[in-house]
Amino acid sequence: PRVAVLFGGRSDEHPVSCVTAAGVLSAIDPEKYDVLAIGITRQGTWRLVPDAVEFAFSGGKPPEVTEDGSAVYLPLSADGAAAFEVTAEGERRSLGVIDVVFPVLHGPYGEDGTVQGLLELSDTRYVGAGVFTSSASMDKHYMKVVLEAAGLPVAPYAVITETQWRHDRERSLERALALGEVLFVKPARAGSSIGISKVTGREELLAAVEAARQHDRKVLVEPQIVGREIECGVLAGLGGAAPEASLLGEIVVSSDREFYDYEAKYLDGSAVDLRCPAEVDRGVQSAVQDAAVRTFEAFGCEGMARVDCFVLEDGGVLVNELNTLPGFTPSSMFPLMWKATGLSYPALVDRLLALALE
Ligand code: DAL
Ligand code: MG
Repeated sequence: PRVAVLFGGRSDEHPVSCVTAAGVLSAIDPEKYDVLAIGITRQGTWRLVPDAVEFAFSGGKPPEVTEDGSAVYLPLSADGAAAFEVTAEGERRSLGVIDVVFPVLHGPYGEDGTVQGLLELSDTRYVGAGVFTSSASMDKHYMKVVLEAAGLPVAPYAVITETQWRHDRERSLERALALGEVLFVKPARAGSSIGISKVTGREELLAAVEAARQHDRKVLVEPQIVGREIECGVLAGLGGAAPEASLLGEIVVSSDREFYDYEAKYLDGSAVDLRCPAEVDRGVQSAVQDAAVRTFEAFGCEGMARVDCFVLEDGGVLVNELNTLPGFTPSSMFPLMWKATGLSYPALVDRLLALALE
């Protein structure tokens, strides 16, 4: 089958997506799949990228898909039409029919149901969650709504919409300040901790809401949770089998860093310790795995998800979030957890493609 790996894209997580794609591209079995690497520029142009390209955060420079004058187009109708490329010289070249797309895209315009909608329109199979699941889990506000409705425990939160911020700023600030002393302020629809601040007090909160609003007009505020940050991978079962939970991973942030921010995630390898498998007792392990699978089911996930939890001192579990296209570099937590569970990185990629094609 012909697989198209889509990466880069218009979101702030463009560079992270490029690094994830480099990992995925090197893991697809060339004996089994004919691979097209399609990079999406920050402006939104799709273009073929030689799949040998190594994207990495090196020398402080984030990787990026840049325009080269060519463009790739996918059919918009469900008539089995071929994808095609228009070269920089203006020649049109067929790329054949794409059997499956692996949208290795993080954030808005990729992880949020938009690309999934395009693929639905063209009747193209794709890896991962569908339109609703993708958009509901990209939005940290609606994510909580679905989790709460499914009876899954979440941390308290306040939402500040554009309208509330414009017309009822004082009340918005009061609602947020009432949540606790130390607050996390997040753009509702972003990832990789982009636009997130940890604050105390009204002045800092005000600045943090404005900073988050640079990324999304809707903002979420949560109190700091005292607990361990424990993550769990979930994979759909092949042939209709039940979803499976991985062994757990733990994020331990070094004490000189305030939280697991963008720099700790991708730029400063010493800022964070990814412990996998996490040292937890059996009760905690099954509670987190159970919450992760219930989250997967509640959202109607397909393919994969990474569910991030807090484990409280009394052993209670809060679901912090769900990521339908988790970071997937060979050193990211999602593939590490599956490796610890017995599924290698190439086997994981193979399973995801098989799930999309079944
Ligand atoms: N949004 C990043 C890629 C993650 O969840 O891993
Ligand atoms: Mg996320």
